[in-house]
Amino acid sequence: LTVPRIRDHKKDGKTKEPLVMLTAYTARQAQLLDTHCDILLVGDSLGQVIYGLDSTLPVTPEMMIAHGAAVVRGSYHSLVVVDMPFGSYEGSKEQAFDVASRIMAETGCAAVKLEGGEAMSETIHFLTNRGIPVMGHVGLTPQAVNVLGGYAARGRSQEEHDKIIRDGKAVQDAGAFSVVAEGVIEPIAISLTQSLEIPVIGIGASAQCDGQVLVTEDMLGMFERVPRFVKRYEDIASIIEKTVATYAEEVRSRAFPGEEQTYQPKK
Ligand code: KIV
Ligand code: NA
Repeated sequence: LTVPRIRDHKKDGKTKEPLVMLTAYTARQAQLLDTHCDILLVGDSLGQVIYGLDSTLPVTPEMMIAHGAAVVRGSYHSLVVVDMPFGSYEGSKEQAFDVASRIMAETGCAAVKLEGGEAMSETIHFLTNRGIPVMGHVGLTPQAVNVLGGYAARGRSQEEHDKIIRDGKAVQDAGAFSVVAEGVIEPIAISLTQSLEIPVIGIGASAQCDGQVLVTEDMLGMFERVPRFVKRYEDIASIIEKTVATYAEEVRSRAFPGEEQTYQPKK
């Protein structure tokens, strides 16, 4: 899949079949998700999911590049998008270009994603005019958690509502090929999706968007506590725990390794 194909998935302001997007952080995970998805996002949520950090703020370009390259190696069909981490692009459009071009060159990904609306429009314009496709991200932007004061859904006041719609428009007008809307109340998801020509991909943004994204580990049930917008399709954590308990028990009782797993001299 290519950036123009994703953008043109929405025609005359309408999407027939919603776009499917999931996060991926490793090559094997990408292989497993690839044929089922349209877009694989190497999200800076890897800070929490992979590295045990308590926000995305400490994530570095080096982390994004290492995982981005792994995901590109594991995918053949999906469009791979890599998040620009906090502090790597907000300073100036030139700073953003340096980091984004490094991410593109060193991972082989198709596009980058960055958080922010009106404040980032000049930067998005600068990047897209220099060969770097950009996906926007508006609404609840986790890199701004210290300004927003938490991870609560956005758009409940008229002021917030208008701001998020302006942000979405600004991102589109600056040249983004699509935009993530995170943690917004349904009426905002509806206005955004209706007023933008580019696909709006929702997370915690109702069923009204042009696509959906979740953090893969969240929907697989790798974590005990997940936000309300996550549907847990599986309970992988308990499968892992059960399997590891069996292994531990077999090692301690000398049931593993058995004959089948043991090398013997040639007869
Ligand atoms: O980092 C991430 O996983 C994201 C998605 C939740 C959209 O930005
Ligand atoms: Na992110």
